[in-house]
Amino acid sequence: MEKKLIKAAKEVSKNAYSPYSKFKVGAALLTSSGNIYTGTNIENSSYPAGVCAERVAIFKAITNGENKFDMLAIYSHSDKLFYPCGICRQVIAEFARNLPIIVAKEEDNYIKTNIKDLLPQAFRL
Ligand code: THU
Repeated sequence: MEKKLIKAAKEVSKNAYSPYSKFKVGAALLTSSGNIYTGTNIENSSYPAGVCAERVAIFKAITNGENKFDMLAIYSHSDKLFYPCGICRQVIAEFARNLPIIVAKEEDNYIKTNIKDLLPQAFRL
């Protein structure tokens, strides 16, 4: 399943709309029902209006009535691993306190972490 998710994240990263940063990110979210929701970063000429790939994938799942997540893969083709930004960590923590997260720079070059470790003591109401 890890490889399948990375592949989906890699594939969808090609659709990133990132003319400003030129940085393409893909995310693939596995839900408890076995569905996979993908997302890319989508930038905007008004820079703060842009959104990260992870949040697009999560918001697509929520919109489809799914809020139980099993694993998230994030892919960006680069020399180094890019971890999810702080805002995305907070959004992930809203829905999952214990979510395995794969950070990949190639299909066979990735690390597995967890939102627990990426955002300890997350703010929650
Ligand atoms: N980006 C993501 O898609 N996910 C992250 O976790 C960090 C950054 C995107 C946002 C922007 O389009 C580009 O990468 C450069 O910041």
